[in-house]
Amino acid sequence: MTPNPQVLVVGSGPAGLVLALTLTQNGIPIRIIEKRSEFHESQRGAGIQVRSLELYNFLCVYNDIKAGSIPLLPICTYKLPGGREAASLNALAPTVDATPDIPFPNPITIGQNHTESILRSHLAKLGVEVERSTELISFQQDQNGVTAEIIKRSSDNTETRETAHFDFLVGADGARGVTRKQLGLTFLGESTPNHVLIGDVFVKGLSREVWHNFRPSEKEMLLFRPTETEGLFYVILSSANIEDYPKISANKENLQEFVNRMTTRDDIIIERIKALDEYSPSIRMVDKFGEGRIFVVGDAAHVHSPAGGQGLNTSIQDSFNLGWKLSLVCKKLSPSSILDTYSDERLPVIQDMLAKTTEILRKILKKNWDRPTSLNQLRVNCRWSHILVDEQVEDHEGAKAIARDAYGSETDDQLRAGDRAPDAPDLVNIKSNEKTSFFSVFRPIYHTALLFNPPSTELPSILETFATWPTGAVKVVLILPKGGNVAKDVLQDVLVLEDREGHAYQSYKQMADGGFPVVIIRPDGVIGGIAKGAEGVKVYHNKLFSA
Ligand SMILES: Cc1cc2nc3c(=O)[nH]c(=O)nc-3n(C[C@H](O)[C@H](O)[C@H](O)COP(=O)(O)OP(=O)(O)OC[C@H]3O[C@@H](n4cnc5c(N)ncnc54)[C@H](O)[C@@H]3O)c2cc1C
Ligand SMILES: *[C@@H]1O[C@H](CO)[C@@H](O)[C@H](O)[C@H]1NC(C)=O
Ligand SMILES: *[C@@H]1O[C@H](CO)[C@@H](O)[C@H](O)[C@H]1NC(C)=O
Repeated sequence: MTPNPQVLVVGSGPAGLVLALTLTQNGIPIRIIEKRSEFHESQRGAGIQVRSLELYNFLCVYNDIKAGSIPLLPICTYKLPGGREAASLNALAPTVDATPDIPFPNPITIGQNHTESILRSHLAKLGVEVERSTELISFQQDQNGVTAEIIKRSSDNTETRETAHFDFLVGADGARGVTRKQLGLTFLGESTPNHVLIGDVFVKGLSREVWHNFRPSEKEMLLFRPTETEGLFYVILSSANIEDYPKISANKENLQEFVNRMTTRDDIIIERIKALDEYSPSIRMVDKFGEGRIFVVGDAAHVHSPAGGQGLNTSIQDSFNLGWKLSLVCKKLSPSSILDTYSDERLPVIQDMLAKTTEILRKILKKNWDRPTSLNQLRVNCRWSHILVDEQVEDHEGAKAIARDAYGSETDDQLRAGDRAPDAPDLVNIKSNEKTSFFSVFRPIYHTALLFNPPSTELPSILETFATWPTGAVKVVLILPKGGNVAKDVLQDVLVLEDREGHAYQSYKQMADGGFPVVIIRPDGVIGGIAKGAEGVKVYHNKLFSA
């Protein structure tokens, strides 16, 4: 067990694991506990959004996730009766080519159990194991920390009670978790009437190239989604009569009978039901994401319809937003007041998301599969946050002037502080001659300052300002235009990249050409500051590092 853990992470779903990994990479000692004795083996939230892929890239788990995944397949709806001929074939998201600024443009699917096992293995490499059969029972906080009551169960069911102290506690304990409840955060919303059976079933007789969709009537549906595991399909079904559910899920013979009836086929063979449970997601969210030294992330903070499925995607973004801030505070580099921005930056995103997923659900019920491209979450932003600096905008301090369009559905193509920082490939490190990209440089353990050829008279004062940041808190990167060069003596601690193909100057053209050569990227891959020179950098620094 980690000595003197500063943070207790409660729950080892995707939200808890991403938070744990972010904190651990930052060198923060933590514990992560899970009340279950065995990790679940289900597909659940399997659709991985484009922005989530970028997050996995920053955490250095992208290659493993990608290798374990399959692409997001189109959905084939069959003519009935018959059930073999396609009535329609719909792509859930158009397959697009990678561009210099968007390197992983297509969503993928990978079972949630698989994602979790990859995240756990990366944590384990850093010496952190999820403690199973370990449940948070209650907690108390005061100005100095949090005291948690924890119960550990051993295999013979004996219980050991423990009282442990931490600086912070984060509830990643899912929709029914104790953290939100005991904190007394409201969880407002509604329960949806859409009651379905959802689960993992081994099936023979279906191809793995499309999602197989049967819709005999308005109220009845049967969907088989192929998974990365041969023979395993993720199944969603609804029956006209919800009283049928216990019977349908009781055994494979009953499910087989239902499948034959829905599909009018007899060659789709149910081999084994791994899990098939009733699911009726509510649409609810908290009024704030924490109180004092205690926070909630993921399903503990918001639940919603899986349609347009923003569930896991949004949950891990919560964790990534909180993780770097908590790290700076744990290291005593930033005042704890920056933790308030976690709620400030995420609440509007969640509000916007709930409205969107509810709308999509309504459409799906009308058999309309169109989904707004904003669901790729690339335009999700926090432009209104008060820890940002954007000298392009008059009076960014009066940030209220900036519209809260959290999913960026209405905003123009201008880049602002609070937006996703774009990638740029084909950059050559002039010291080592190695090729790299911005997305290989951005990491959750430091800020990255991109300098787009500031005037040589300004450069020394800009570098001096960054030199006053806490050790290791910022990586300064000077980007030379193709063929550009720079005096060697100025550049001791600076990464110098030559923009061989011009992608960096293209992605950040607005700033490079507009007289704002300093772009500060936060550890969560969001643009934190856009500045003319040293003055703006100081303002950003003070917001983050001064009490
Ligand atoms: C049965 C089920 C089916 C789902 N199906 C879908 C789907 O089809 N599509 C979709 O998009 N989303 C689905 N979801 C939602 C999706 O799984 C979540 O959005 C996602 O898991 C959110 O991750 P999380 O880490 O916030 O919460 P979770 O994955 O719920 O993780 C919370 C973890 O905390 C643990 N925990 C709870 N209380 C304590 C405690 N006191 N002490 C210690 N540990 C605790 C739990 O055991 C659990 O492992 C489903 C969820 C469930 C539960
Ligand atoms: C993540 O987003 C993708 C793309 O919109 C979606 O298909 C998938 O269901 C989402 N996943 C979850 C678990 O919400
Ligand atoms: C996930 O669960 C499926 C069964 O539902 C199992 O076949 C697969 O091996 C599991 N994957 C991992 C990585 O545990």
